[in-house]
Amino acid sequence: MASLTSPRPDHAAADWSVAQDWASYSAQDHATWDRLFERQTKMLRDRAAPEFLDGLDMLRLTKPGIPDFAELSERLMQRTGWQVVAVPGLVPDRVFFEHLANRRFVAGRFIRSPDQSDYLAEPDVFHDVFGHVPLLADPLFADYMQAYGEGGLRADGLGAIDRLARLYWYTVEFGLIRRGGDMKLYGAGILSSYGESVFALDDPSPNRIGFDLNRLMRTRYRIDDYQQSYFVIGSFEDLLRATVETDFAPLYRALDGQEDLEPDAVLPEDRVYSRGTQDHVSGVESK
Ligand code: PHE
Ligand code: FE
Repeated sequence: MASLTSPRPDHAAADWSVAQDWASYSAQDHATWDRLFERQTKMLRDRAAPEFLDGLDMLRLTKPGIPDFAELSERLMQRTGWQVVAVPGLVPDRVFFEHLANRRFVAGRFIRSPDQSDYLAEPDVFHDVFGHVPLLADPLFADYMQAYGEGGLRADGLGAIDRLARLYWYTVEFGLIRRGGDMKLYGAGILSSYGESVFALDDPSPNRIGFDLNRLMRTRYRIDDYQQSYFVIGSFEDLLRATVETDFAPLYRALDGQEDLEPDAVLPEDRVYSRGTQDHVSGVESK
């Protein structure tokens, strides 16, 4: 997601896209991808939503090296009509929404340096492509992302971008999903992070709370550490019903009269799957 961005660089097009320039990646860049890929897929085998793992296979992300966006887009286009477009970094909100509304996922082209394998302030190609793109091969999730883009353009007109951004955060980036008697990961911010892939499912610290749209859009989130609360959906069908098939305008109006909730809040009406100890807490920054 966007917010504070620098001016559009000269080499970027009007829609902020740039060439991926796949040929310019070094052997070390590809080796960094391979190392991260290997470590994540091993751990995610029984932690990620099956749709994510299927996406990795279907899109041949299992092939060594940083994916070539042109090739990846061709496969994705055949499945669900999505493409992957390179951008120089964070882009303005409207640019981001416009791309999503047109089934284009924007991805950073750079890869972290070898000493940054655990923490990154800006999303790189591993987060953007490994984390986000597999689920775009799932028809339901693909529709959700497009609708989110359209919803973003609408929210902008209604002065509600900050509310809507929380939905993206707690679903697309940090969502959990129930599967059988278990919970699985589907949020890209978790799936691309070694530490959070364990933390989000196994650690006693965070709350795990049933998805409720109004509740979620009141909840601030951490941008500097693992989340203090995760929201759990029952299925992608449920998520679509609560969002794509719901008119948000009345909801935004109702939210204006309600106070924000802290990232660790638990309410009497919450469906609590696990109540966190909040033992893992560092800084205090939330949005
Ligand atoms: N239905 C929402 C609206 O009326 C748009 C939306 C769809 C937002 C899907 C997020 C995800 O604005
Ligand atoms: Fe992301």
